[in-house]
Amino acid sequence: MALVAPSLLASNFLQLERECAMVNESKADWFHLDVMDGRFVPNISYGLPVIQQIKTVAKKICDVHLMILEPEKYTEDFKKAGADILTVHYEACTHLHRNIQQIKGLGMQAGVALNPHTPVELLQDIIQDIDLVLIMSVNPGFGGQQFIPHSLQKIRELRQMINEKKLKVKIEVDGGITEENAKDVVNAGADVLVAGSTIFKSKDPKKTIEFLKSI
Ligand code: DX5
Ligand code: ZN
Repeated sequence: MALVAPSLLASNFLQLERECAMVNESKADWFHLDVMDGRFVPNISYGLPVIQQIKTVAKKICDVHLMILEPEKYTEDFKKAGADILTVHYEACTHLHRNIQQIKGLGMQAGVALNPHTPVELLQDIIQDIDLVLIMSVNPGFGGQQFIPHSLQKIRELRQMINEKKLKVKIEVDGGITEENAKDVVNAGADVLVAGSTIFKSKDPKKTIEFLKSI
């Protein structure tokens, strides 16, 4: 059974408090919060003040996915805003090891996200230092895109690497997760399913979460 992390990017921002209450009342495990800077990805989402407010009502772990350049400049601010898990992109960090130490030093769990073109094997020398790998199964920047099938192979490779090293690193998969493909993603080795559109655009979001949890 995988953990489920609804991505608030697909929620109704005018009803954010109600959307957060739905996640609180549901069987979901984490709040997945997507931060985009218009530089690392071709879109701008929301940032610190919004996360700060979500934190005041969220009763579950806040999983913050930074799609930004120079994340080290804002690590402390995201801690203060309420991030429990902070994930940075491999492609955005020249000194990834230092960034990870900074995140952990502030008491957060540290994640590394990989774009679809970035091979899993590049994690060989950092995997022992992190809590989570986020496999992007679409190109980051937008919700509602189609799952890239090759992601399944990457999840399997990563699962093998984690098992061989006897680590407890979680595999989170983000982008294009649907009720139809979620089972394949879990079978490939995912521990956490992020879903935006599939949950928030469904008729009964709580039921959809329950279905994803039952896989
Ligand atoms: C995309 C974000 C995702 C996004 C997923 O860059 O990282 O978290 O919200 O949305 P869906 O589930 O609609 O693909
Ligand atoms: Zn995300």
